[in-house]
Amino acid sequence: MQARTSFGQHTLGREYFVSDEIWNAEHEKIFYRSWMLAGHVSQLEQPGSYFLFELGSESVIVLRDQEGELCAFHNHCRHRGSKLCREAQGTLGKTIQCPYHAWTFGLDGALRAVPTMSEVPGFDAADYPLHSAALTNWEGFLFVNLSRDPQPFADALPGLAGRFRQWRTAELRAAVRREYEVDANWKLIFHNFSECYHCPLAHPHLNKLTPFRNSENDLDEGPVLGGPMWMNNRDGSMTMGGERCAPTLPGVTDSERGKVYYYSLFPSGFLSFHPDYVMMHRALPLSKDRTRVVCEWLFHPDSIAAPGFDPAPAVEFWDLTNRQDWDLCANAHRGVVSLAWEPGPYSELESQLAAFDRQYRRALGEEVIASRRAG
Ligand code: FES
Ligand code: FE
Repeated sequence: MQARTSFGQHTLGREYFVSDEIWNAEHEKIFYRSWMLAGHVSQLEQPGSYFLFELGSESVIVLRDQEGELCAFHNHCRHRGSKLCREAQGTLGKTIQCPYHAWTFGLDGALRAVPTMSEVPGFDAADYPLHSAALTNWEGFLFVNLSRDPQPFADALPGLAGRFRQWRTAELRAAVRREYEVDANWKLIFHNFSECYHCPLAHPHLNKLTPFRNSENDLDEGPVLGGPMWMNNRDGSMTMGGERCAPTLPGVTDSERGKVYYYSLFPSGFLSFHPDYVMMHRALPLSKDRTRVVCEWLFHPDSIAAPGFDPAPAVEFWDLTNRQDWDLCANAHRGVVSLAWEPGPYSELESQLAAFDRQYRRALGEEVIASRRAG
């Protein structure tokens, strides 16, 4: 099945990569309003464990409280704004103490201890809990929304409902993490993920396992885009040797065994479902021309605990592919910021990029785009 056509649609213009106005609008209208892929429940196994989700000016503590509930709070003290947690992840005790003047908050966000403020007339600690942030646990993947009034998760990412349940991703654990900083705008990372037109030239090894035309798009419009590619070896996987590096995940059906499913989740990352593992990429824009990509490989805990478990064939395969892709993204970025750049035409193999751009324009809002045209 070929996706909706990209016929006649062109890539984004230079202004989408260089304009401060668009960069700011992307934060205001997209990143600070969307459900952002922030991590996985396996990062928060123990009560008191936390990690930070950080984007632009915002920092959020995602934690498991002492009762085992997951919650998220903006990472600043209600006194004078000090950042509460400074390490990217860790374990809290039963409280979070501000490093500035020792205001102390419970893991439910309530202000529990406040040195000397009892002298202040009318002060009530109940008026100063941590600001909570919206958090959703979808099949074990944790999404944060920075908006005060977020769109319901199911409305925002409708393509996810009921899909991928057979991978039982909430049971998986992140076995390996790699972080990259890419000299490219975040949208170019999404564009690159969304086509295999570049695979024969850029990824000869990947293209041997899944020839570039072995693909279809089963989600071709909206914030979740993607579909399966089928492998030449239906008992294989995407690894250095083409073999599985763990048993097939329980629940994956016979028809899914020979495929790898790739989906982009606007605007924060990608999920890739392999027969033996699941991979999460998170894209975090650092500047107009730099993006951090955090990549994690998730396996079934029984596989991780098995003697001789070795995720290296999967990790090395995708680390190699990632580095090939980041080089392509950085190289494309150099061209699209040129004063002479004019948008180029999408091929029929780039329908998902055209769909990404439509989603992006919808999210950014016509008024921003119109003001650029007028200006
Ligand atoms: Fe946190 Fe003062 S800023 S206690
Ligand atoms: Fe690639």
